[in-house]
Formats: sequence, C-alpha cells, structure tokens
Amino acid sequence: MEKRQALIFLPVLAVASFLVKISGSSSFRPVLTGPDLAFSGPRVVFRCVASNVSPPVVYELIKDGRVRIGRNRDFQGGQVASFPIKVTAASEGSYHCRATAGGTTEISNSIKLRVVTPPSYTRVTSEPFPPVAYEGSRMALSCDAERGSNLSYSWFFNRKEITSSTSLPFHFVENKLLVERVTPEYAGNYSCTAWSSVNEIKRISSSTEVQVTIKVYVSKPEISFSVHKEGTSYHGNVTCWSTRGSPPVNLYLLLDGKEVDSVTAAQTPAAWFLVVVVPELDMGEARCRVKTENQDLTSEPVNLEFQLEEM
Ligand SMILES: *[C@@H]1O[C@H](CO)[C@@H](O)[C@H](O)[C@H]1NC(C)=O
Ligand SMILES: *[C@@H]1O[C@H](CO)[C@@H](O)[C@H](O)[C@H]1NC(C)=O
Ligand SMILES: *[C@@H]1O[C@H](CO)[C@@H](O)[C@H](O)[C@H]1NC(C)=O
Repeated sequence: MEKRQALIFLPVLAVASFLVKISGSSSFRPVLTGPDLAFSGPRVVFRCVASNVSPPVVYELIKDGRVRIGRNRDFQGGQVASFPIKVTAASEGSYHCRATAGGTTEISNSIKLRVVTPPSYTRVTSEPFPPVAYEGSRMALSCDAERGSNLSYSWFFNRKEITSSTSLPFHFVENKLLVERVTPEYAGNYSCTAWSSVNEIKRISSSTEVQVTIKVYVSKPEISFSVHKEGTSYHGNVTCWSTRGSPPVNLYLLLDGKEVDSVTAAQTPAAWFLVVVVPELDMGEARCRVKTENQDLTSEPVNLEFQLEEM
C-alpha cells in the first residue's frame, strides 16, 4: 500500500523541480570570492562571477552597501570579474558584488574584510628609566610598536627567548615583561619582537637590545688597620670595604668623627687610605663611611695606635 503511493507521487516531484530550474535561469546569483583577513600594504583581489547569464554583464564591487570600489564588464559571458584593491586600514568593511544583465540586477554574498596592520619601529622602554634597578625593586619593560594591530609579543633575555620554562620567573602582561623583585641574575640584555599574523603568515618587528643593570645595596663597611715601615717613618694603612654592593660608591675616612679623606670606588666597594702614624701615640678613632645615591653607612671604629714591639 505504502509503495504504490510513493510511485504515484514521483511524476509530480519531477515537474516541481523542472519549474525551479526555469525560474532559476531568469534570476542569476553572482558569487563573490576574496579574503576575509589581510595585511595592510599589499594588494588583494576580489572576484565575482555569475553563471547562466547572457552577456553583456556589468559587475560592480560595493563596499559597506554604499561605496562603489570598481566596475567591470563581461561581453563574452562566464568571465570572472577581478577587483584588485590595495589594502589600507580603511579597507576594512563588508564587500559584495552587484551583477547587472538584461535589465536585471542581482546581489552576491558578502565578505567581511578585517585588516591587520603589521608592526613597525618596535622598541623596548623601561621602568625605571634608565634601566637601572636596585635588587628587590620592581622592573617593567614594555614592547612598543609605533604601528601595528592585533599584535603579539615575544621577549628575549641575552638573545634567548623567555618562555614559561625559563629558570628566572617573569610575568607577561599584554606588551609588558614584569619582574616584581629583581635580583642580580636579572641583569643583562633584553629585546622583544612584536608580531601579527594572517593565515599563518607572520610579520615581525624586532627591537634593539636594552641593557638592564641591577644594583646591589652595599653592606655595612668593614675596617682594618695595618702599619708598615718606610725608611725611618711608619705608615698606617686603613682599609675599608663592603662585602657586597654595586659600584660606584664613595668611601670616606673619618678620624674622631671628622672626614679626612675620600675615594670614589668604581670597580669594587673598597678603598684604602694611608695615614702617617707615630708609634706609641694614640691618633684617634677611625671609621669608614660608605655613601651611594641612596645609602649612608658607617663602620665600627678602630683605634689608630700601635706599639713598636708589635712590628
Ligand atoms: C584583533 O583583536 C581583536 C581584539 O583582540 C579581535 O576582536 C579581532 O577579531 C582581531 N582581528 C583580527 C583581524 O584578528
Ligand atoms: C649586553 O650588551 C652589551 C653591549 O652590547 C655587551 O657589552 C654585554 O656583554 C652584553 N651582556 C650580555 C650578558 O650578553
Ligand atoms: C693597604 O692594604 C690593602 C689591603 O688591606 C692593600 O691592598 C694595599 O695595597 C695596601 N696599601 C699599601 C700602600 O700598602
């Protein structure tokens, strides 16, 4: 019973599909192809074609439903109309094509083009600036590209890319590289690249290197006193040093609280001072003082006296 009914319906369906074909030939559907994502700079091509239409056909590329970008004629039929456009940031928008033939105009599908601007003139800026940070302080480096959209960033420390498996901890926040508390290990050369990609094609802009210096706070200075004989006179040698601390530092010799000599130590936080000494005479109490731009520390005192039998 079921089968018989299906057979009766079959001719009816055939007629229906025939009717659709006839009406389809009178209205044609142009098809637009082209990119939906492109770098600004190079050319891209939109192409439009309508099939089953008698020439001549006029094709127009329309942007955002209003602006005509180009116009092309096909006198032979079946020819693809090409619309090359040079991509700029202003090319972003929605495109469709319009085909006119035999007094009928038909509209194609639309393509939404998004434009990615490649990065350029990338550089690293630092906070603090200049890039000199004290141990324990915060450091923030920014990767700034003068131009570019949809950018991603990569960072390099002494020419090696910083990744999550880099032994020193770093934080990445947008275009920034952050360290909450720097230690001397963070001293070195940093650079970055900004990049954007379109369909697996990467455009990269690299910065130059920025040399970061990490300063170590000086420790309380130590003092020592020694005497040596020169001819008939004696010279005392007061040596001052901090076991840690970044140069340059200023070292001062204080005698009974008064500054009598000073030295700027550029290599290591240490210096020595020569003092004339007279045996058996107490020449006072010496101390060392070490000063940097943000520290001022004084050593324990040492008495500048010696007995001849000690020599
Ligand atoms: C660019 O990034 C924005 C925000 O992250 C996103 O909405 C947009 O789709 C991206 N554009 C492209 C072309 O990838
Ligand atoms: C960093 O760069 C400077 C100058 O180019 C160079 O003298 C120094 O050796 C570099 N430091 C490291 C750790 O590569
Ligand atoms: C003073 O002592 C330091 C070490 O304590 C030494 O390096 C320096 O050469 C001495 N200076 C003189 C003139 O002997």
